Amino acid sequence: MGPVRVGLLGMGTVGGGTVRVLRRNAGEIARRVGREIVIAQAAVRNPARLQGLDLGCLVTSDPFAVVRNPEIDVVVEVMGGIEPARSLILEAIAAGKHVVTANKALLAEHGNVIFAAAQEQGVVVAFEAAVAGGIPIIKAIREGLAGNRIQWLAGIINGTSNYILTQMRAEAKDFPSALAEAQRLGYAEADPGLDIDGGDAAHKLTLLASIAFGIPVDFAHCHVEGIRNLDRVDVVYAEDLGYRIKLLGIAKRRADGVELRVHPTLIPERHLLASVEGPFNAVLVDGDAVGQTLYYGRGAGAEPTASAIVADLVDVARTLTADPSNRVPHLAFQPDCMSALPL
Ligand code: HSE
Repeated sequence: MGPVRVGLLGMGTVGGGTVRVLRRNAGEIARRVGREIVIAQAAVRNPARLQGLDLGCLVTSDPFAVVRNPEIDVVVEVMGGIEPARSLILEAIAAGKHVVTANKALLAEHGNVIFAAAQEQGVVVAFEAAVAGGIPIIKAIREGLAGNRIQWLAGIINGTSNYILTQMRAEAKDFPSALAEAQRLGYAEADPGLDIDGGDAAHKLTLLASIAFGIPVDFAHCHVEGIRNLDRVDVVYAEDLGYRIKLLGIAKRRADGVELRVHPTLIPERHLLASVEGPFNAVLVDGDAVGQTLYYGRGAGAEPTASAIVADLVDVARTLTADPSNRVPHLAFQPDCMSALPL
């Protein structure tokens, strides 16, 4: 069987990481899937800026050329932003291509339309990289906890905010210099307001809740408050009282729906989540059968995010290789399912 041919949209931090991981682990990945996964075409905003880097594939500045290329089996979208990513993904789905994306903002705001289109076309839209970077939390909830009724989940799901809070506490840094360092290290969003005002964590929380509770993606009903207004003195006082401040995303099952909220939270310093530092993420999930389980790892950065993208590619490649009737739907909502509670 020939290789699975990938079209890559975007060559920023995550796109570069994806190319490196796919190349470095090509042999191992091919053995796992039973065929190679190759990048056949890449869309790069400014090909001149590749500065001699040989992607070993066709390079174009037109991302629509990639989704319209009949040779491409899977589109990997790592451009970010709403448009043109939304149109590109919908066009790829309409053309029967599978999609792997790290675009949490897009899925949180337009996921219901995108997932419905994918379901209708019988293609996969995989988004492990959209939540908690390299932690395989989507797969853990969808597959590992599939036998549970999930009661609640709570997570540190924005690496930038956690890095800033850690730097303020452990290194006595002020907010602006900690943020500048997070940007330099490639953790922050292009618009860091999404990190420090809680929007990025809220995007991820709505996706997690959708998987955990089988509800539509409902970003509009998430309460969102970030860390922008915290001072070093807040962090220090909290520590004096035996607490750490963490930006938590919390989704809780209630009788009339699911409560979604993101806000800075005081956590007793002996709690496991209190020891999650720097750009690391952690998600605690409470299921009726298993009890509490904790998932921990790097939540931001080029290769941790690439790890999740490549895992999704492996999944899709296996799907492409399997009998279509054995394919597992990625998201399936009941028409009468609950939704997030209005605030
Ligand atoms: N800006 C995001 C974060 C990147 O800091 O967590 C990973 O989604």
